[in-house]
Amino acid sequence: MNRPKVVVLSEVSVDGRLAVSRDRLLLYGDERWNAIATPGQVNVFELLRSIHKPEATLEGSGSFVRDVEEPQPWLGQETGHSSESLYSDFLPEAVLHRPGHRGWFTAVDGRGRIRWLYKEYLDEAWKGWWPLVWVSHSTPAEYVAYLRREEIPYLVAGQERVDLGAALEKMKSALGVTCVLSTAGGRLNGALVRAGLVDEVNIQFLPAIIGGFDTPSLFDAPNLKADELPTRLNLISAQVETGGRVWLRYEVVREAVSG
Ligand SMILES: NC(=O)c1ccc[n+]([C@@H]2O[C@H](COP(=O)([O-])OP(=O)(O)OC[C@H]3O[C@@H](n4cnc5c(N)ncnc54)[C@H](OP(=O)(O)O)[C@@H]3O)[C@@H](O)[C@H]2O)c1
Repeated sequence: MNRPKVVVLSEVSVDGRLAVSRDRLLLYGDERWNAIATPGQVNVFELLRSIHKPEATLEGSGSFVRDVEEPQPWLGQETGHSSESLYSDFLPEAVLHRPGHRGWFTAVDGRGRIRWLYKEYLDEAWKGWWPLVWVSHSTPAEYVAYLRREEIPYLVAGQERVDLGAALEKMKSALGVTCVLSTAGGRLNGALVRAGLVDEVNIQFLPAIIGGFDTPSLFDAPNLKADELPTRLNLISAQVETGGRVWLRYEVVREAVSG
């Protein structure tokens, strides 16, 4: 498969929880999470950016919209496009060749749940990064038309759901992306791992325990099938910080294909 390298970064409690509960999203701030996620000496996100130079980050729709939440209504209903043109990749020249383009803020949104209130980031660290959405052939047509109207590029991959491997291949072939840094939640990262699409795993442990049966957790993937093996990792480095944060960096072991 000719795809970009995929590097995962997650910040979790010692028991692997990615948030304090499923009904609060970190994106909109959460005091209980902030109380344990005090900054460390090393900004791992920036360090990984300088090591790998990712041209894209990756999030799932679960980082933007809660499961129980009805997304805001469509911003307009009319599509004005044939289904053939709607469900083909949308990479407008004006966006691809914007002056100062630096990267893609990519989101998987097969059900069309995210509403893009901001396209240009004013924050210096994100200037020149533009949203890019992965959709499937089952994504509601009104949503795909909305992305077109808003000039938000999208890639179409998969029939029922976004085909993560195919979308990654398009990132490389259509956009020249060589590395994707995934800061997604557990379900998207879990799906990427199960599909054999992750090359490096970074986990920042915070000195706290959260627990919970439904709390978002690291690599929330379906149970291993009887003939599936755990994904093995090789330690690259382990760094302990004052204050009790621990950063573990691993590469994913590529199992030799037998036969
Ligand atoms: N601490 C951290 O580092 C960190 C980072 C990010 C997020 N979070 C927190 O984690 C929570 C969100 O995590 P989450 O696990 O609920 O959401 P998520 O990781 O965003 O996963 C859901 C997304 O992944 C897609 N997906 C899942 N499995 C798939 C598969 N097999 N094929 C294709 N697409 C697939 C879903 O698509 P469909 O729409 O098709 O289902 C959906 O877009 C939030 O509370 C957020 O605040 C924490």
